[in-house]
Amino acid sequence: EKAGHKHFMAKEIHEQPQTLKDVLDAYLDDGRIAPPATFDWTGIDRLTIVACGTAHIAATVAKYWFEKIARLPVECDIASEFRYRDPVIAPGTAVMVISQSGETADTLAALRHAQGQARTLAVVNVAESSIAREAEVAFPILAGVEIGVASTKAFVNQLAVLLMLAVRAGLDRGAATAGTEAEWVAKLTALPGLVSQALAVEDRCEALAHRLAEATDILFLGRGPMYPLAHEGALKLKEISYIHAEAYASGELKHGPIALVDRTLPVVVLAPTDALFDKTVSNMQEVMAREGQVLLVTDAEGARRASHGVWEMLVMPTVDPVLAPILYAVPAQLLAYHTAVHKGTDVDQPRNLAKSVTVE
Ligand code: F6R
Repeated sequence: EKAGHKHFMAKEIHEQPQTLKDVLDAYLDDGRIAPPATFDWTGIDRLTIVACGTAHIAATVAKYWFEKIARLPVECDIASEFRYRDPVIAPGTAVMVISQSGETADTLAALRHAQGQARTLAVVNVAESSIAREAEVAFPILAGVEIGVASTKAFVNQLAVLLMLAVRAGLDRGAATAGTEAEWVAKLTALPGLVSQALAVEDRCEALAHRLAEATDILFLGRGPMYPLAHEGALKLKEISYIHAEAYASGELKHGPIALVDRTLPVVVLAPTDALFDKTVSNMQEVMAREGQVLLVTDAEGARRASHGVWEMLVMPTVDPVLAPILYAVPAQLLAYHTAVHKGTDVDQPRNLAKSVTVE
C-alpha cells in the first residue's frame, strides 16, 4: 500500500510527477487551458481567497500569479479569521476557498459566509465533499487520496490548478501580461518532468537531515512567490519533525529576525535565479556574516553565482521563475521528511494533528 516506501508521505511525494500530470491532462486540451468546470472572469474586479494551513499557503502563491498574470487584485485570508471578522465583500468580488479534504470546518463556514454576497469558487481534492457541493463552481485538483497528514501532492496540484485559473483569468480579462495560451500550455506540460528531476535532491536532503535534526530553530527565507514557499517549508518541518521553524520574507530579515542569527541557526534560502535573486543573495550574505548556516536552494546558475560561503546547497532544475513555486515545494517537503525520519517521529500521523479538521 505504500508502494515500497517507508511512509505514505514519501509515497505521496514521489507520486507528484504523476498526479501533476493527471491534473494537467484534465485541464489542458489540445493547446488550450480548458478546466473541467467553467467560470467567467470577465466581470470580476477582485478575488478573495480563503483557506487554512497549507491550502492557505497555496492561496498566497496564487496571489502573486493572479496579480501578475491576470492583473486581478487578490486578498488572502485565513478561514478562521475571515468567518468572524465581518469582512467587506465589495460588488464584483469572487470568493475562492481552497481545501484538500473539502470538509475543514472554518473553510466551509467561510464559504457559507460568502454565499449570496459574492460569486463562489472552490479548489478541492475530495470531489464528494461539502465544500465541493456547496460552492457555485468547484475545480477538482485530482491528486487522488492523500493519507499522510502533512499535505504534499495536494499542495502541488492546488498550485497547478491555481496557476491555470490565473492564466484563464488573464486570458478572459485580456491582461497584457498573460502571454499566449500556447506558451502557457508548453510551460505547464514540461512541469511533471521537472518535478521528477527535482526529486533528485532527495539524497542531499537525506544527507543533511542529521544536521537539521540537531537544530532547535530553523529559519526559511524567500522573496516574491518564494516567500509563501518559505512558509510551506517551515510548516512542513514543524508539523512532522517538531522543530520550531519560521518563515520570513527575505527583505524583513533586518527588521527583527536577524537578531536570532548565530552559528547554531540553519537558514534555508529558497532562491531560484529570478529578477530578485541578487537581493535575496545580499540578505543571505547578511546571515553568513553573523555565522548563520545557510542552506541555499537554487538552480545551476544560482549555484554558480552565490555558492561562496554557504553551508550547503540543493541544486534544482532550471525553471521559468513563474512556475518555480511548484518545483520548490519538493525540497521543502523532502527536507522536512528526512529530518523527521532522522528524529524518528511519526511522519504520517504527527502528534496532535488530524488529517481533516472538521471542528473549529
Ligand atoms: C499541513 C496540512 C494542513 C492542511 C489544513 C487544511 O501539511 O495538511 O495545514 O492544509 O488543515 O486542510 P484542508 O486542505 O483539507 O482544508
